[in-house]
Amino acid sequence: MRGIGGETVLNYANFNEPPAGRSADWDGERAFDGEHPSVTLRAVCSRPRPKAHVIVFANEKGGVGKSTLAFHTAVALAHAGYKLLAIDLDRRQRSLDTAFVNRDATARSLQVNLPRSRHIVLEKQSGALLSQEITRLGTQCDVIVIDVAGHDSAIARYAMAMADTLVTPVNSSAVDLDLMGKFSPVTKRFKKPGHFAQMVNALRAERARLGLPSLDWVVVKNRVRSTEVRQQAWVDNALAQLAPKIDVRLGASLSERVAYRELFPFGLTHLDLRLIPGLASARPSASAEVRALVADLALPEPGSGVGSNEAPKSWVIRESSRAYGASLQQHMHPKSAALEKAG
Ligand SMILES: Nc1ncnc2c1ncn2[C@@H]1O[C@H](COP(=O)(O)OP(=O)(O)OP(=O)(O)O)[C@@H](O)[C@H]1O
Ligand SMILES: [Mg+2]
Repeated sequence: MRGIGGETVLNYANFNEPPAGRSADWDGERAFDGEHPSVTLRAVCSRPRPKAHVIVFANEKGGVGKSTLAFHTAVALAHAGYKLLAIDLDRRQRSLDTAFVNRDATARSLQVNLPRSRHIVLEKQSGALLSQEITRLGTQCDVIVIDVAGHDSAIARYAMAMADTLVTPVNSSAVDLDLMGKFSPVTKRFKKPGHFAQMVNALRAERARLGLPSLDWVVVKNRVRSTEVRQQAWVDNALAQLAPKIDVRLGASLSERVAYRELFPFGLTHLDLRLIPGLASARPSASAEVRALVADLALPEPGSGVGSNEAPKSWVIRESSRAYGASLQQHMHPKSAALEKAG
């Protein structure tokens, strides 16, 4: 069909028709009740492709650790010398952006040169504005980290359609895998991809059809509790079956640790503690998990991104700096503080 000015207008009257390459597993409207993948991809292709590597943290399931992983990954990358732009698509919770706002405040208050990131919340949720912000702020960055809200939306699909790497954290429990894959409770066998997996793979199929680079999809087990042996075995077995079926890689997992939570309100991670002498000892096991995850993402080396990773120089009264440090220390889990005393 031809539209105004000879532009091709696609007809999506039959929404249940599978996108390119998907057939048997396709649940039609239930998996994809928004724009057809080809519409999303057409919008992405009509705008400039970012030079920076785009990592999107997404899972339609809420509360699985998207913002936690996005923040820890971004901080680890900043420490490794990458120039970053962090974009929060969750304009209600704003967890990623708030963490970076607080990081700026901590750097200023304690007068430490923390590696940092540019950061914004996408207030108006359109693909055009996301691409515009990336062009405006991300041209000199090596990596753009995008944190997506925990539900399906047009902007989430747009972000995934333009990503180089998609990271999907899953809580390490059977209930939390439903959107990724369906499994028989009796035989424990994989039955079919869940709705989120169908949607991501529909976007990937459309990218392939258009000759775009493939999307590297990495699934990360989060909040792993070593005490729940049977539950972990179930999840490991399910993920091992799922990975080849939906074409995902499994990244290094993160354990359930207070270390991933206690410093978040101050915009810090345990990777930062060596830069703040006297606060507390870092927990090397948490930092090692984050580094292993970042290594598994196999990102290109940082390039020639310019811009400062350093805290802005500003005048801070020594007393208020001390008070800020004290309240930070008070906030920490007693075990982290004890580590410091022992050292
Ligand atoms: N590995 C972990 N260990 C301990 N707590 C964790 C871990 N990962 C996440 N959490 C905690 O789980 C909660 C949810 O995490 P987070 O906000 O990152 O999830 P989310 O997927 O971004 O949620 P939403 O879908 O609401 O955006 C937070 O309280 C966070 O501190
Ligand atoms: Mg979040």
